[in-house]
Amino acid sequence: MKTIKEIMSQFEITKEQMLQISQDFKKAIEVSLDGKPSPLLMIPSYIGKPSGKESGEYIAVDMGGTNIRVGKFQIGDCKIVKGPESKASLKNEENGYDFTSSDTTGFELYDFIASKMDKLVSPDEELYLGHTFSFATEQTGINDAVLLGWSKEISVQGVEGKNPNHLLAEAIDRRNIKVKPCAIINDTVGTLLVAACTDMNANIASIVGTGHNTCYVEPKHPLTGKPMIINMEAANFDWGLPFTIYDNRLDQNSKKPGKGRLEKMVSGAYLGEVVRLILVDLKQRGLIFGDSHMDESKLVKKDSIDTKMIAEFISNKSSIEQVFSCNEEDVKIVLDFASLIVKRAAQLVASTYLGTLMHLDPELMKEQTIGIDGSIYEKMPGFHDAIKQALKEMTGAKADKIQLKLVKDGSGAGAAVAASMIRI
Ligand code: BGC
Repeated sequence: MKTIKEIMSQFEITKEQMLQISQDFKKAIEVSLDGKPSPLLMIPSYIGKPSGKESGEYIAVDMGGTNIRVGKFQIGDCKIVKGPESKASLKNEENGYDFTSSDTTGFELYDFIASKMDKLVSPDEELYLGHTFSFATEQTGINDAVLLGWSKEISVQGVEGKNPNHLLAEAIDRRNIKVKPCAIINDTVGTLLVAACTDMNANIASIVGTGHNTCYVEPKHPLTGKPMIINMEAANFDWGLPFTIYDNRLDQNSKKPGKGRLEKMVSGAYLGEVVRLILVDLKQRGLIFGDSHMDESKLVKKDSIDTKMIAEFISNKSSIEQVFSCNEEDVKIVLDFASLIVKRAAQLVASTYLGTLMHLDPELMKEQTIGIDGSIYEKMPGFHDAIKQALKEMTGAKADKIQLKLVKDGSGAGAAVAASMIRI
């Protein structure tokens, strides 16, 4: 019979393991650049860093895993000023739509997005649009990208295999506005563009939100011989990751088994579910909730514990007692597992950051800034510190050269920066 301690130890990651993961990640970058099979897709973005000369007003569409935002941005003198914005959740039961479900079509999704422009753009205005699309695409030009496959448990019909910017342009044409999509980028790329506007050391950017991914500037891209941002689609990395039976169970019950294995250990769409699967197992083994009068549906239903609840458990442990009606001992067990899963996520993410840094600068001699956006990085208690701590453990004093910078709204503003770089 396993003890709580033994189960916990499966989630602990040593410094040696982190270093190994960072080496494997670096290798995955390099074999992919050599054209060999790798879990990293290394998608070219067809864009480098902004020059600082960009200017004008642009429309940005930002389609992430949780929200859709459409907004105006003014760019000039290396400043990005946000104008009016319309934001909607991908799912809204009251308003009767669900843009995550396979019952919805791409036609409906893009009509909805285009409808958000009606209030922002007057019929006599002519604007260029940048589109941040936070999913894996096959990109063949700055305005040409085809959705390879949805992630983050989204399954809207009729978008896979298509160019989301074409679907958007068609939906815009059905309305009385003059907006022209001219760039489509990944959210990590947007985050890097925004970070690079004000920080010349920013060569890496990452999202740790509903989904996860990282991009970086390849100084001499094989396609052009010039600097180009590469969207690694790091979510898919799986070499040598310390999967537990809970990670495998979650993967098997997900919409895309075998895909996005790193993302399923670190991102907001999944962290709550990992904790739930552990608690279900602990209860079946008689290790927790023996004398609680809990409502079983809180535990039995898939996704009944979400990442917001994990953040709440960590910042205010009395919320654990309220959710599970359990005793002090059980509260401690839930808190310990929640904290451990969050720490493990930060350690894995940090290891991939180090792998990327070592690809760019093997001796870690240069100052580097990693721009990061996403709800987990921004809001999960202790997440930022745990990444810093992991980098320090792995690199010692060299960790002082690595800045982690929150880039708020990187994905939205980045779309406007991309459009401005194309229109320059
Ligand atoms: C997508 C990436 C995206 C990341 C963060 C992943 O699921 O495949 O393209 O950058 O989520 O939003």
